[in-house]
Amino acid sequence: MVAGRWSAAPGPLSGHAPAGHPGKRPLCRLDDIADGASRGFDPLREGRDTMFVVRRGDAVFGWRNACPHYDFARMAWKKDAFLNADGTRIRCSAHGALFGIEDGVCEVGPCIGEALTPVLLAVHDGVVWLCGDYQPGLRTTRELREV
Ligand code: FES
Repeated sequence: MVAGRWSAAPGPLSGHAPAGHPGKRPLCRLDDIADGASRGFDPLREGRDTMFVVRRGDAVFGWRNACPHYDFARMAWKKDAFLNADGTRIRCSAHGALFGIEDGVCEVGPCIGEALTPVLLAVHDGVVWLCGDYQPGLRTTRELREV
């Protein structure tokens, strides 16, 4: 299994896109992400995780892997390590900024008040779906917001 790749999901994903989001793509099974954990994804198969998901119970929160503090800075210091030690905040490994899991707003660190760029997700029949338009590549927060 190649972590973070679309094709890495164990077994075929099946089901229908959630209502209101026809034609969108399945990302993984909800159970592929441990409750309280994070996981990076490479939905366009670009060779690096360009987004990540944090699971809390049955809820998932998707964010681009792009810190608003510094252009092209990836968040995790190792595969899937997007959270602080106690799992209560998203942590950027570069300079230690801490972001709210649900709102993506920096609460502590050099970019306080700025926010991560959200990725629209839906959970339907135990499958996590990527629902919004998704732009390739590592991008600056400004570029992501202009799309
Ligand atoms: S690049 Fe993320 S805190 Fe500096």
